[in-house]
Amino acid sequence: MITPRFLSPRDITQAEIRAICTLKNQSWPHSMESQLAWWEKNTAGDDRFVTLVRDGSLLAFLRLRSRTVSVSGARLDVLCATEVCVDESHQGQGLGALLMGAAATHTKQTSAGVAYLLCRDVQEPFYAACGWRRTDAPLQIESSSGRGRRPLAADERCMTFDPQDRLNGQIVLFGDVF
Ligand SMILES: CC(C)(COP(=O)(O)OP(=O)(O)OC[C@H]1O[C@@H](n2cnc3c(N)ncnc32)[C@H](O)[C@@H]1OP(=O)(O)O)[C@@H](O)C(=O)NCCC(=O)NCCS
Repeated sequence: MITPRFLSPRDITQAEIRAICTLKNQSWPHSMESQLAWWEKNTAGDDRFVTLVRDGSLLAFLRLRSRTVSVSGARLDVLCATEVCVDESHQGQGLGALLMGAAATHTKQTSAGVAYLLCRDVQEPFYAACGWRRTDAPLQIESSSGRGRRPLAADERCMTFDPQDRLNGQIVLFGDVF
């Protein structure tokens, strides 16, 4: 039995960050130096890290970022899940579903009770099996780099945990990291 752990940038240790970067490196290979630099650049004070640890080994990780989305012009404070990953020697054992369930439980305790993530089409069945739903609402992404808005690419999906159906309208996501 593994209990998900929630950490904030304030209480995570350097050793835990290195373990997470090592785990992420299985799916997104870079040097450790580059992983740590990315972490530094892309971590905000209100991020929440969700981990699954067994016998001292990190088996799974995801990050919940605080984000504001626009739904038909109205601002909604939501969470965005990124960097979802399970150690490759422990995949297919339900840990990904446990991790996504922990993210959903945490999301229910936030004001809007809404979370989303962007993924590729091939990853949709995993998130759907975890109870997250694909949104087919008209959706655009606005990055802070001033390149304007873009629609989802054909192979991109926006999966949501949104039990109250609040992402119901024209959606604009804001951010550079999803
Ligand atoms: C995607 C990932 C997180 C899944 O974790 P996992 O621990 O292997 O998944 P689980 O064992 O919890 O599977 C949960 C459910 O999803 C299904 N599932 C898992 N991977 C799947 C896939 N690639 N395609 C379809 N279904 C999948 C399982 O069959 C299971 O369904 P069930 O409950 O009906 O039996 C893991 O494979 C991973 O870390 N991949 C590399 C990183 C990555 O691609 N992350 C996603 C970035 S958006």
